[in-house]
Amino acid sequence: MMRLIVLLGGVFFAQMALCAPDADPQNGRRLARQCKTCHGIDGASTIPIAPHIGGESATYIARQLTRFRDGARVHEMMSVVASALSDADIRDLAAWYASIPVSASLPDAVANSGAPQKCVACHGANGLAVHPDAPNLAGESLVYIMTQLKAFRSGRRQHQAMNKIAAGLRDAEMRQAAQWFAAITFRVSR
Ligand code: HEC
Ligand code: HEC
Repeated sequence: MMRLIVLLGGVFFAQMALCAPDADPQNGRRLARQCKTCHGIDGASTIPIAPHIGGESATYIARQLTRFRDGARVHEMMSVVASALSDADIRDLAAWYASIPVSASLPDAVANSGAPQKCVACHGANGLAVHPDAPNLAGESLVYIMTQLKAFRSGRRQHQAMNKIAAGLRDAEMRQAAQWFAAITFRVSR
């Protein structure tokens, strides 16, 4: 019993450590009502052009929202949404969406070994990120993944590692990688 409590305590603190110190995920959930029509209240997106954001790391979500707000990343819808968010809103929204447990499964009869080898070190074979800085790609739509890869390739979206990786991809290779991740089933479990 004692060991269980210690273990649960450890998990609890490990999760807290991933959040910003004063983050309030429940306030984030309230704020997420304004995100729901596109990303769902649990971060499973409802439209193909919007990505799933449930289960992304709080740092990744906060970084993207800040970049939309500051104009470093530009999108007609998200730039407007983010312009109204305070630092505290961003912190709480990030904590809420990061707290959602997610899972991914490959299509039947498809094996991990078929995954695009240039991507797995950071995004995982099943599209759940294995690198702390990288987002999940599992179940994102083909159109979303292709749009982002082209934006990285052209430099419209800036990120040192991804700009370099996308610059090295031919169209066919890009599409193949995008199709792999788009075919994965993504689930939020709440
Ligand atoms: C009208 C639809 C819409 C609403 C409302 C909306 N978003 Fe978005 N969101 C999008 C779209 C579309 C994108 C993809 C932008 C792109 O292509 O670069 C996006 C991208 C994002 C990303 C980047 C994800 C990634 O994987 O890089 C985050 C984080 C995000 N939204 C959070 C939010 C939050 C938090 C809210 C509510 C405060 C919100 N969005 C409201 C449509 C919306
Ligand atoms: C060295 C690690 C690394 C590798 C390898 C890598 N990525 Fe990334 N990827 C990242 C990081 C980090 C980001 C977040 C960039 C940012 O913060 O804007 C990212 C972002 C992305 C995004 C945007 C996702 C979103 O939600 O907006 C896509 C799409 C993507 N990568 C596709 C790929 C594909 C396809 C490959 C293989 C051809 C690949 N990546 C290889 C690290 C990597």
